[in-house]
Amino acid sequence: MNTSEKLIATEQRLGAHNYKPLDVVLTRGEGVYVWDTDGNRYLDCLSAYSAVNQGHCHPKILAAMVEQAGRLTLTSRAFRNDQLAYLYEELAALTGSHKILPMNSGAEAVETAIKAVRKWGYEVKGVPEGKAEIIVCADNFHGRTLSIISFSTDPEARTGFGPYTPGFRIIPFGDAEVFAAAINANTVAALIEPIQGEAGVIIPPAGYFTRIRELCTANNVTLILDEIQTGLGRTGKLLAEEHEGIEADVTLIGKALSGGFYPVSAVLSNSEVLGVLKPGQHGSTFGGNPLACAVARTALKVLTEEGMIENAAVIGDYFIEGLRSIRSNIVRDVRGRGLMMAIELEPEAGGARQYCHALKERGLLAKDTHDHTIRLAPPLVITKEQVDWAVSQIEMTIG
Ligand SMILES: Cc1ncc(COP(=O)(O)O)c(C=O)c1O
Repeated sequence: MNTSEKLIATEQRLGAHNYKPLDVVLTRGEGVYVWDTDGNRYLDCLSAYSAVNQGHCHPKILAAMVEQAGRLTLTSRAFRNDQLAYLYEELAALTGSHKILPMNSGAEAVETAIKAVRKWGYEVKGVPEGKAEIIVCADNFHGRTLSIISFSTDPEARTGFGPYTPGFRIIPFGDAEVFAAAINANTVAALIEPIQGEAGVIIPPAGYFTRIRELCTANNVTLILDEIQTGLGRTGKLLAEEHEGIEADVTLIGKALSGGFYPVSAVLSNSEVLGVLKPGQHGSTFGGNPLACAVARTALKVLTEEGMIENAAVIGDYFIEGLRSIRSNIVRDVRGRGLMMAIELEPEAGGARQYCHALKERGLLAKDTHDHTIRLAPPLVITKEQVDWAVSQIEMTIG
């Protein structure tokens, strides 16, 4: 057995089998590339589910992390630290948010928003205690905690984990009139992904979010956009909401907020929602720690100062054009926005996973989602030449 075979066997023996990874054991990353333990190089077209938008091991984020790690890593929020205020200031300047609550994982940011809007519903909107409703969309993906999977429509994510958290109304994604009909006096919020990532990069019809925004405003419903995957440049804008020129009341970010170095997420709010949380009502030992803040500050800085968002817009169009030019009778659809892309295969093609295996053999890492879809989301630093190479490998695999 070589090293990677040994490591895989150990993982299989000792680890819970809650993932089914491609059998490639990675040991190093730089920019858009990662290397396995046998020295093979791959173009990473997943970016750790869009957490590594800035490219692997970005030298400036690395330097900030090392510097901060040698000075102060964790104080807890029992005391203050000299990084959090700067992160607040920089995030507020970048996004226009008025209140910010830092957490660690994406799911924690979602949970935090759910808690805050429920409380806001009772204390500000006047919804009777225990009656708050949150509208969510079918085929959503917001994370793995119990409350979140309670409103998942994916049987794999949900089945067997009950009893479930009540208070969610599930409607189809992309139909604003169904949304209008779902609002009632107890509706405190709508929680929606701007583009459904895990569902296979599903882009709603133009005008959908403009109408949702109008309906939320008219009915005093808090619009929460989960930009944990779509945010921070992935779709060619800082936030995907900008594609429709709207502003959410609450925006959730995570993943690329740390450039993949560290779990950092945040709830951004431009309404009174976060104001309802008082000392002792919410928190996290690691949330807002100085190491996380220093890493996030630099991750945001390189994202904006190094033109990554603009690159995602321009190169994303180029990549999608390249994918659309592939002649293949197993491709049903190619879609995407910025560098958030998907190739949906015909069901007769026998599933996307075998093609992800074949792409791995050619040096390109991508992830299948929902059986028939290959999702592509490279780091935002990808160049035209690298896209040309990727498209040619994909063409040889599915063409
Ligand atoms: C839209 C969205 N929300 C929430 C999450 C959960 O984030 P985490 O895995 O950091 O808990 C994800 C993760 O893929 C996501 O894509």
